[in-house]
Amino acid sequence: MPINIEDLRRDYSAGELEVSDVSTDPIVQFRKWFEEAVQAEVPEPNAMTLSTASPEGKPSARIVLLKGIESGAFRFYTNYNSRKGQELSRNPHVALTFLWHELQRQVRIEGTAALLPEEVSQAYFQSRPKGSQIGAWASPQSEIIEGRAVLERNVSKLQEEYSAADALPKPPHWGGYGVKPSYVEFWQGRSSRLHDRVAYTLQGDGQWLRQRLAP
Ligand SMILES: Cc1cc2nc3c(=O)[nH]c(=O)nc-3n(C[C@H](O)[C@H](O)[C@H](O)COP(=O)(O)O)c2cc1C
Repeated sequence: MPINIEDLRRDYSAGELEVSDVSTDPIVQFRKWFEEAVQAEVPEPNAMTLSTASPEGKPSARIVLLKGIESGAFRFYTNYNSRKGQELSRNPHVALTFLWHELQRQVRIEGTAALLPEEVSQAYFQSRPKGSQIGAWASPQSEIIEGRAVLERNVSKLQEEYSAADALPKPPHWGGYGVKPSYVEFWQGRSSRLHDRVAYTLQGDGQWLRQRLAP
């Protein structure tokens, strides 16, 4: 039997969300929900959709891993020459989206991305397993390649070159970004599509305005 996609539906009843329930600070609220996602054993709770756009406003999206929240910025690491890296160098506006399905929750973040300081990227690169370090050098991320053999050749060369070393230096084109949010929205699924949404918008005075949105 072919699957009828129209018939796929689920009613949500795992929780509720009120403006009065959430922290005045969206980062505090995010950490609380993130911990609950970890406790609920959501697979890869730090996987998030990163949406970027060209200067003309043409969007593109892909999943990356959140690697920390420091100084109010959501951090991830990637190849600066990749499609996302090239888009970010010309247009820093991004959106991050988390889906924690087991908790019937979504978090949406909008803000601007900036390169992390080189020493932060260095430290994180050095904390990665040697195989991942080799991978970062071996893959010209987002470029067209002839076949998998290209990667395998690059990996073999690097393995030989660094056979005696415990670690590789960080490639200059690899590092992190920090996303400073100006909008954060928490979504809790409710019955009959009457979901709860609480949005935080950053005001000119640095305070966060909290409002309920219609689902
Ligand atoms: C679960 C998951 C985690 C990922 N984490 C990262 C990551 O942290 N950094 C990264 O550059 N790509 C990551 N990727 C790969 C990206 O989705 C994407 O394929 C790659 O970054 C190239 O994107 P671009 O061509 O738009 O720049 C991940 C993919 C998945 C499915």
